[in-house]
Amino acid sequence: MFIAGNWKMNGTVAEATALARALVDGLPANAPTTAVFPPAVHLAAVGEVLKGSPIFMGGQDCSGAEKGAHTGDISAAMLADIGARGVIIGHSERRTDHGETDAEIQQKVEAGLGAGLGVVLCVGETLAERESGAAQSVVREQLEGSLPKVFPGGSVVIAYEPVWAIGTGKVATVEDIASMHGMIRAWLGENQPELAQTFILYGGSVKPSNAAEIFALDEVGGALVGGASLKSDDFLGIIAAAMKP
Ligand code: 13P
Repeated sequence: MFIAGNWKMNGTVAEATALARALVDGLPANAPTTAVFPPAVHLAAVGEVLKGSPIFMGGQDCSGAEKGAHTGDISAAMLADIGARGVIIGHSERRTDHGETDAEIQQKVEAGLGAGLGVVLCVGETLAERESGAAQSVVREQLEGSLPKVFPGGSVVIAYEPVWAIGTGKVATVEDIASMHGMIRAWLGENQPELAQTFILYGGSVKPSNAAEIFALDEVGGALVGGASLKSDDFLGIIAAAMKP
């Protein structure tokens, strides 16, 4: 299992370090792989708190370019340099707020892997796409368009996050999650054999109260948690749910 907290654009340095400290102190022995993705400007301070703990840290986005004249952007190498070991790429909020396309996301995935970062690649359909019956074809297209054509090695985890379930309190039904994760698993086996066994996370309004039934599904390998990752008790509760046999 892999449990990841996406802190999005929230908090101060003091709040971020306090949250990291509470997670370090509260993380149970034998916890699943746990990662947090603070805002870029909090990475250095959070990294200090996490030093020596099993919790690893990543960025929420990186540039597809290696370096140079890209004002405001942050390269994958810069994330690695500051102590990040991973990066979220293709989050639906980046696709919506910044119009990121699959082709750009593919460049970012390659940049992340090139810098030695583990990539969490997000995919997911909108409500309109689900209602029109296109959910699986949309996600398949996102996988096809965003993963490198020739896999360069390294680690990519897939996060299935239905857009309509993010921050809304609405969770996809277990049947919908199971069938989408099954499709993703099959697609990876056929098209990206290096990733055939990788974690496939679910994201979208995961809370301590609904985590266990989601984690019980066959192809669910953990969660990418937004809102509930900002409260240490909730995030630790989700971690505890992932440890139930
Ligand atoms: P919420 O858990 O707040 O719905 O956010 C999910 C998400 O977008 C994680 O990346």
